Amino acid sequence: MSLESHSTSLESHTALVTGGSRGIGRATAFALAQAGAAVAVLARSGDEVDRTVGELRSAGHRAAGYPADVADAASLGKAFDALIGELGRIDILVNNAGVSWPVGPTASIDVDRFADAVAINLLGPMRCIRSVLPGMLDAGWGRIVNVTTGAATPPGLPRAAAYSASKAGLNQLTVNLAVELAGTGVTVTAVDPGPVDTAMQDYMRDQPAEVIGARVHDMFRRYHAEGQLHTPEQPAQLIAALAAGDVTGEIVAVASDRAAALTHPSGPTG
Ligand SMILES: NC(=O)c1ccc[n+]([C@@H]2O[C@H](COP(=O)([O-])OP(=O)(O)OC[C@H]3O[C@@H](n4cnc5c(N)ncnc54)[C@H](OP(=O)(O)O)[C@@H]3O)[C@@H](O)[C@H]2O)c1
Repeated sequence: MSLESHSTSLESHTALVTGGSRGIGRATAFALAQAGAAVAVLARSGDEVDRTVGELRSAGHRAAGYPADVADAASLGKAFDALIGELGRIDILVNNAGVSWPVGPTASIDVDRFADAVAINLLGPMRCIRSVLPGMLDAGWGRIVNVTTGAATPPGLPRAAAYSASKAGLNQLTVNLAVELAGTGVTVTAVDPGPVDTAMQDYMRDQPAEVIGARVHDMFRRYHAEGQLHTPEQPAQLIAALAAGDVTGEIVAVASDRAAALTHPSGPTG
């Protein structure tokens, strides 16, 4: 999608981007705002949320920030009370907040940290869906876009079992819910960003070979050294296109013909 071509398509809609303070989430907040939506930015670090909301407002967009932890029911509940009170119904939910830790040999992984990752990557999106879905169904319109990873499909990412398994759960939640909601006006999709130049990518690249394994260590180093990293704006444009369109039940990789068709609907593959 050229953002210009959809510059007014999300006017009158309100979007929530979890993990919207930096990286892919921040770029998504901008893409949705440029398409006309009012945007709620949610992440744990209040300073980063404030900075991104300030940048959105300085660019002339409607934006509000809600510091919260998607894994903490009380923290999230408070944020939803505030944002529903201030912004009304959420029309577009982008479940982007995620973590790639804990990494390391599964035989020595801390199971409590594994559970924390599942709470962020899988239960967090479910908590957000549960908060916004009744309003979307009442309105007969809603868009849920989950941010997944190629690590969620076989063979996964060795020594990052919590990440692979929790995002695989998110993939299945996406397709299950899309089937369940067919005909309601609420669509559910997922975006697989590929390797993107963000703090999460820095974290994975910094893992020593003894922790992450030599093959995966080399792979993350190569993405960077060979200029293979996507910009955060690439997945953001695909997310914005899915929010503006009516596709449902698909898990779309940024590096795919399908993504090109969705983001450039009038182009040669559109
Ligand atoms: N970068 C890649 O190569 C890549 C590849 C495939 C998929 N992805 C996916 O893309 C999504 C965004 O990742 P990114 O690369 O942009 O990472 P990032 O730069 O680390 O950003 C992650 C965002 O999520 C927020 N977050 C993390 N835990 C949270 C929690 N418990 N509650 C609320 N917010 C939370 C972070 O803010 P706080 O820390 O302040 O909460 C931040 O805003 C993730 O779901 C990731 O799995 C990334």
